[in-house]
Amino acid sequence: MKVISTISELRTALKGINKIALVPTMGNLHEGHLALVRKAKKCADCVVVSIYVNPLQFLPNEDFNQYPRTLSEDCKLLQNLDVDIAFVPDDKILFPVKQKILVLLPPVADQFEGKFRPGFFRGVATIVLKLFNIIQPDIALFGKKDYQQLHIIRLMVQQLDLPIEILDEEIIRASDGLALSSRNRYLNDIQRIEACHLYQTLNTVKTDIQAGQNRFASLEENAVRVLKTRGWSVDYIAVLNQVSLIPAHPEDKALVVLAAARIGQTRLIDNIEILKS
Ligand code: PAF
Repeated sequence: MKVISTISELRTALKGINKIALVPTMGNLHEGHLALVRKAKKCADCVVVSIYVNPLQFLPNEDFNQYPRTLSEDCKLLQNLDVDIAFVPDDKILFPVKQKILVLLPPVADQFEGKFRPGFFRGVATIVLKLFNIIQPDIALFGKKDYQQLHIIRLMVQQLDLPIEILDEEIIRASDGLALSSRNRYLNDIQRIEACHLYQTLNTVKTDIQAGQNRFASLEENAVRVLKTRGWSVDYIAVLNQVSLIPAHPEDKALVVLAAARIGQTRLIDNIEILKS
């Protein structure tokens, strides 16, 4: 595996390669990322994994400084999966001057995650577009854990006519159901035990919907109440149409429930897809 930090070296290394797959990450890799890498290996001649903690997608009060940076462990994991290139630029490479051109996103980016983290998706879309332009991949892979992010990137690719196929991958969960995330390492032992209740609560919503309940607002309220009673502070739990990410209609067949909630200082997100018969 080549570990490359400059754009010119990367472009040289990629010259003439037929099919390139990109897995963009912020590092601190776990099985969720590795599942994306394994899928990428199956569909491309060359797999590039980018590792960059993107300052544009953190609010001033968020965990940018604290975010786990584990480059040497990450590179070992990628080497074991036979990744071709780890692209590990630093701030000076990606932002030699202040980034003044940013991607303008539609209102869906101001809801849910975007409402609680204003500017987050603009930061994500901008860095992803920069990475797409630098690497020019044929395929890029994103996990379903960041469901709204995946939706917005698909929209950006469509609307900006980017010649890139976006592939997704299912959420990888710990044995108790907690979705794997780099931020899980902020949880103490007691919080870690409690954390699986986010997924359990989503599962209850799914069971209720599949049993025929279609008063989604009251299911959402109930889920929020359950988590609050357990000590969580809940940003949102929303039953949405899987394709449009607008609030679900009782007739919709493919739904997704998005959730974000805080346990102690740690904010977790999760989601569950629901197909109705
Ligand atoms: O999902 C992430 O880890 C990040 O949002 C991404 C896509 C790598 C952009 O920084």
